[in-house]
Order: sequence, then structure tokens, then C-alpha cells
Amino acid sequence: MAYLDQLLNKAKIAPTEPAAPAASPSQKVLIDSYGDVKIYRDGQETVPVYEIESPHLRGEEKNLIEALMEIALNVITVEAGALTAEEKRQKYFQRIIEIIEQSPELKVPVNAKEFYAKAVVREMVGYGLIDQLTQDDQLEEIMIIGPNKPVYVYHRKYDMVKTNLMFYSDSDIRNLADRIARAVNRRIDLQTPLLDARLPDGTRVNATIPPISLDGTTITLRKFKKDPLSVIDLVQYNTISYEAAAFLWLSADGMGAFPANVLVAGGTASGKTTSLNMLTGFVPNNERIVTIEDTAELNLPLEHWIRMEVRPRSIEGSGEVSMDDLVKNSLRMRPDRIIVGEVRGAEGHTMFAAMNTGHRGVMGTVHANSAKETLVRLTSPPIDVPLSMISSLNLIVMQNRIHDRRKGAIRRITEIAELVPSEELRMPTLQVLYQWDPIADTLQSTGIPSFYLQLLSRYTGQNMDDLNKEIQARADVLKKLADQSKRHINDVCGVTQRYLASRRLKV
Ligand SMILES: Nc1ncnc2c1ncn2[C@@H]1O[C@H](COP(=O)(O)OP(=O)(O)OP(=O)(O)O)[C@@H](O)[C@H]1O
Ligand SMILES: [Mg+2]
Repeated sequence: MAYLDQLLNKAKIAPTEPAAPAASPSQKVLIDSYGDVKIYRDGQETVPVYEIESPHLRGEEKNLIEALMEIALNVITVEAGALTAEEKRQKYFQRIIEIIEQSPELKVPVNAKEFYAKAVVREMVGYGLIDQLTQDDQLEEIMIIGPNKPVYVYHRKYDMVKTNLMFYSDSDIRNLADRIARAVNRRIDLQTPLLDARLPDGTRVNATIPPISLDGTTITLRKFKKDPLSVIDLVQYNTISYEAAAFLWLSADGMGAFPANVLVAGGTASGKTTSLNMLTGFVPNNERIVTIEDTAELNLPLEHWIRMEVRPRSIEGSGEVSMDDLVKNSLRMRPDRIIVGEVRGAEGHTMFAAMNTGHRGVMGTVHANSAKETLVRLTSPPIDVPLSMISSLNLIVMQNRIHDRRKGAIRRITEIAELVPSEELRMPTLQVLYQWDPIADTLQSTGIPSFYLQLLSRYTGQNMDDLNKEIQARADVLKKLADQSKRHINDVCGVTQRYLASRRLKV
């Protein structure tokens, strides 16, 4: 921790500061606009302001929309799971236009048909007031913090931003939370005042209601990136270097002989799952992958992939399937790879037991602020991995979200450390292989010979020189992809998989 503090001080990291031009107290300066969105820096506000035309409705508009919703509820039927979210929106839109046309008694003005159809879609299959926010790809997160308070969003470019949207009553937020819960067959009420779920469109949602959240119902939506970040994106965002990415690629496939067991560690929203997705993409496609997640977020073009997701207790209070149940079950599925989304409790213990009985290439994420803290967390309750087992973990990839004065929020892999076993029943030592230099803003090799590579050398019969050349060759493959502007995960995985297949043929 002290080490990280030192790094952060060196980088003169200050609390979030605007990357955009400052505005004097009375000024409101437009700093960005796209689609219907305008973003201002307002001298009166501490964070930028995000404005869209507010979809708040007047009384008679609300009544008409409610009448339309009632008819639509009775006449529109959509088979569950048959349509994508977008197709469902389109289908509802068309049907509501038809309903309007067939119901002259509703007196919908001819030129307002679309306005009403859109509003009904938003209320029935969208996210109501915040629907437009869910359509903005620049937003990572949408945060409703209670009634009569602005809805906040986390913007990819401007970090925390206040919107001009506001719910005026807690019951409106509660209605939205109820609707979201129903859509995933769950409920949120006094008995279960917390909801944590993934929606069919991939959005991750958390909701809380009073008295758990003191100032009203809260809803936090983490938007699902349909087009996930590939290793090329991560290099281009400067999260990782080509060489470090190539090293992780080699570790993830282990030349088919000795894949590393790897954990990505970091704080909340530091990009752990995204980096785990990159690592999982490096697994050769002749291996059988089982992923186990709390809410399924990994997103890859893999063929032989079994995705498992935890099942919370049902409305009747039974049927829970935990992370640990799933990890235990996966061991009976003859997996080549077990990937555990986030290690928090008993499943961590089971995962280490699996590594100890010879499962290789096990990967996952863990919430911790340093490599050292990762080891402490793993060996303490509730995970409680015995010291005798801890060294079966090979690498810890430290991920950080840092506030840079000029660049705003940046996400960096700040360290790739490996575990070197010590004497029996002592904590292994940590050896840093790659380290982020905050001044140059690069992830650099420390030059320390890797213990894991020595093991890999033993398993593959290749000497260290060969392995370093292999890393270089893979870094070149990645560079070439970037030079050809190929960044889409399908293209990137296509090329990296073909490379692995050609290596298999040679061996
Ligand atoms: N390296 C990166 N550069 C830019 N954006 C990133 C990067 N990594 C992740 N993101 C974005 O940051 C958000 C959070 O990422 P992610 O879910 O991977 O974080 P996490 O650490 O797993 O979060 P949590 O603690 O909630 O599990 C996502 O919207 C993702 O697209
Ligand atoms: Mg995560």
C-alpha cells in the first residue's frame, strides 16, 4: 500500500479535476454535444452537467400514456426470451402505433403518434425517465440516488456528471425498481430490500429501498458494453503495454503445457472484469472453459464455453445456487479452465483446492488494493486459503483506477507480480515483473527474471531465451493488429487463436 501511495504521490494525483476548460462562477460553457446530449461546465457546479430534453410529462400526456399502456398490456404478447431488447422495442413501437390508429376515442393528435408510441415503449419495455441515458454508449453507469436529487452518470470522458433528470417522488423510483426486479423474476421489498441482478440486455443492476438506503430508493445501473474492450483497446488506452500483454498471453496459454493461475486484483470499477475478459480471450480454443460469475459479464467469441451464473434465493426463499456450489460442480464437468468472476468467499477456498489438485490456468478477480493485500485477503476468513496452498497461484495483476489531473480517470495495470514460494507454511514472497511508472505513464518490465517463466521452461523444454523470443513474437502479433486498426474482439481473438493453432502444429 505504501508503495502505491508513493507512486500516486509521484504522479501528483489530485482529486477529480475537470479535463475541460474551467468556467467562471456565473458562466455555463458548452464543452461537448452529441445526439440529443449537451454537456456543460457550470461555474455553480463542482461536476459537469449533462443535459437532454427532459422526458417529464404533463398531466394529460401522462393520462393518455397510461390509457395506451393499459390497452397495450392486454393486446401485445411477446414470447419470453424470443426477442432481443432492441427487437422488443421495435415490436412494441409498431403495435402501439397500430393501437393509436385503431382507437380514435383516445384522440391522439395525428402529429403526436410517434411521441406517444415512444413514451409508451420507454415506460413498458425501456427504463422510463432514464431511458435515454441507457442508450448513450458514452456512459458507464447511471445512478439514481433518491427523489428530488439529480440522476448522476459516470461518463467515459468526463467522469462523474450530474444530469438534468430528477425523480420527484420515491414511489416513481420504486416503481422502476419493481419493474426491473419483475423482469428478472425477482422482487425488492421489506424482506429483501437489496436487489443485485443482470438484466436480459446484460445491464447489471443494483437497487436498495428504505430503510436500508436512508434517503429513498436507489438504483445503480452498470451498462453492458456490447462491444467489449479487446487487448488492442487496452493497449491503446495505455492500460497495458504490448510486451506485458504478450507476457500475459503466454502465461494464459502456457504453451499448452503449463498455464499460469492468475488473479486480477483491484478496487471497485478499476477494470478487473475487463482485464479478466482479455485474459480469458487468450485461452486456446481447443480447451474447455467453464466460467462462474455472480452476474454474467464476460463477453467473448468462444466456442467451447460453458457460462454459469449464481442463482439467488427464489421469491419463496429456496433454490439458491452459490458461487461455491458452481465451482464444486464445475470440477465434475471435466473443465480445462475454471474462471471465477469474483472471488469473495468459500469459492476461493474451493478454487485453490482445485489448483492444488492439478487444475491449471485457473483465473479470476479479487477485490484488493495491492498484491500484498490480495494474499492477506486470500488467506483470511471468509476465503481462508491455507498457506500450504497459496503458492499454487502464479500471478497477480494489479489494476487501478487513478484520477489524473490532466486526463481525468485513467485505468492502469500498475503491477504484475508473481508469487515465489517460501519455506513451508510461510507467506510466499512477491516479485514484481512489470511496474507502472506514473511519470512516463508506462508499464515497464523490472528486468527481474520470472520464476513462472522458469517453471514454464521446465514444462516445455524451451530455454529462457526461447520464451523471451516467444513473448516478443506475440507482442509483434498484437502490434500488427493495432497497425491494421483491428481492435474488434472478434478480429483480435481470430488472429490470436490462429497464432496459437499454428504454434500447436509446430510443436
Ligand atoms: N482499461 C480500461 N480503460 C477504459 N475503460 C475501462 C477499462 N477497463 C474497464 N473499463 C470500463 O470501466 C467500467 C468498469 O469496468 P469493470 O467492470 O471491468 O471493472 P471491475 O473492476 O470489474 O468493477 P467491479 O468492482 O464493479 O466488479 C466498465 O464500463 C468498463 O467498460
Ligand atoms: Mg467486476
